[in-house]
Amino acid sequence: MNYKLINMKVFGDERGKLVSLEGNINVPFDIKRVYYIFDTSPEQERGKHAHKTLEQIIIAIDGACQFVLDDGKTRETVWLNRPDIGLYIGKNMWREMRHFSYGCKLMILASTHYNEKEYIRNYNEFLRFIK
Ligand code: TYD
Repeated sequence: MNYKLINMKVFGDERGKLVSLEGNINVPFDIKRVYYIFDTSPEQERGKHAHKTLEQIIIAIDGACQFVLDDGKTRETVWLNRPDIGLYIGKNMWREMRHFSYGCKLMILASTHYNEKEYIRNYNEFLRFIK
């Protein structure tokens, strides 16, 4: 399975908490793109695709959601519900996001610019691609 959970160092004091994300330091790639997902709801699922080349770190800045991660052989689920834990997902991993809490906010750091051509959005095509 090409994913892992990364505990980010938290700088906290009476003023609050801070996490710093730096490419090739605590993020294991050069960060080319940042995007975020908000205004989510529990009835709606997202994802349902894989990437041929992209690596990502996903952080639930606020709220929670569940990730389904699938390498074509095994399927595992991971809850993201802490702003100090990053979910790293490497290439060739099918992912689905579901059970969003209302107003969940996900921040995603990506290793490449957006390129629809490197998405695989059909599960059977994903299985063929990784063979
Ligand atoms: P989509 O891949 O459906 O999001 P998710 O992975 O959360 O299910 O993307 C939604 C739309 O946003 C789709 O039309 C593509 C567009 N998009 C961009 O233009 N740039 C980006 O960086 C991303 C991630 C998506």
